[in-house]
Amino acid sequence: MEYNWSEANPSSWKRLWRERRTDNAPLNQSGVWRYREMLPFAGSETNEVVTLREGHTPLLKGPLAADYAGLRELTFKHQGFNPTGSFKDNGMTCGVSQAVRLGKQIVACVSTGNTSASMAAYASAAGLKPVIFLPHGNISFGKLAQALEYGAITLQVKGANFDEILALVRRIADRSGIYLLNSINPFRIEGQKTMALEMLDQNDWEVPDWVVMPGGNLGNTAAFGKGFEELYRLELIPRLPRIAVVQATGSAPFFHFMQQQGAPFSAVKTPETLATAIRIGDPVSWPKAESVLQKTRGVVESVSEQEIADAKAIIGRCGIGCEPASAATLAGIKKLVSTGIMASTERVIAVLTGNVLKDPDYIYRYHTGELKTPANGVILSTYGNPPRAVDNDPDAIIQLLERIKN
Ligand code: F0G
Repeated sequence: MEYNWSEANPSSWKRLWRERRTDNAPLNQSGVWRYREMLPFAGSETNEVVTLREGHTPLLKGPLAADYAGLRELTFKHQGFNPTGSFKDNGMTCGVSQAVRLGKQIVACVSTGNTSASMAAYASAAGLKPVIFLPHGNISFGKLAQALEYGAITLQVKGANFDEILALVRRIADRSGIYLLNSINPFRIEGQKTMALEMLDQNDWEVPDWVVMPGGNLGNTAAFGKGFEELYRLELIPRLPRIAVVQATGSAPFFHFMQQQGAPFSAVKTPETLATAIRIGDPVSWPKAESVLQKTRGVVESVSEQEIADAKAIIGRCGIGCEPASAATLAGIKKLVSTGIMASTERVIAVLTGNVLKDPDYIYRYHTGELKTPANGVILSTYGNPPRAVDNDPDAIIQLLERIKN
């Protein structure tokens, strides 16, 4: 969505946005709608907004993670603090509000899990019927559980991956009149761009050198890029941060595309990664993401299952935690620092896209040494912290604690 900002008076916005933080009105409590001057499509109809007080997610310092990656300092923007535990809520409040405005009754999406959890919650909150399509057997339990609890009609398509189901649902949407809320939906991108606004607002408008995020369908890369670019055009920031996108090695079509300058984009037919949120071989938003990386002097990195798993455990030990896809950021930063693309003194903000509880099965397997790659290969439990079974015997437990302490 392109806007004509000629009537805008952005010089007062920073103060206005700050003031709204202390206000109890639902729209001002939302970390999306607080920035509504930059969401002008909503116009005067903001009474139709469906909000669960999304956004307002913290910036958290992770000294242990910084050390792990070789950085002097590292900050996380943790989108897992959202109402349904992922960054999808920032976009979904806009997407579902638009469905309400259009008088739609049924909304649908294809998802690797988080979009469906978010859409189910917002649609139900708005009194709409959510229908979600998931790859059968390849979604984390936390996300599936949310969809069921929020009352979505949940269809698990057998023998098809995310990309194939997306093609299927586009055909169904054309014929059935349901409103599609995938990440190409422009209203969702508008909502997600407010993450860039809120990040800088919380950082007292100091622009970091790098903003790092995992890449799947690449809608988030497009959204962050749009947010930063609009702030720059409105002269609310003096320069753009560089954007780094990180993909999992087995699902890295964008990484390969950017490596082979000039070659046509080629989808990965059977994408694989335990970070199921980013298990996408044919990302729809790659052209936008390419343009964002060009404008921001950005880069793409790819990281292995082992690198993701270890980085995730380190983020956990910071007392922060996140789901596997989000941990690709730290793994990618470590790699970018080691190859000299990122300097240890640069200021880096990594976007943690999902909550630690989204995928508890993965966590348990990692810490108990049972986690395997999609091809059944070994993943070392490098930072494993397994639970220990003990007898109901105080002396034995005290002895055990002494041994662990030393
Ligand atoms: N991190 C998490 C936790 C995600 O759920 C997703 C995408 C991404 C990163 C990648 O973002 O697609 O904009 O590049 N999840 C989508 C879903 C595909 O269906 O929930 P992206």
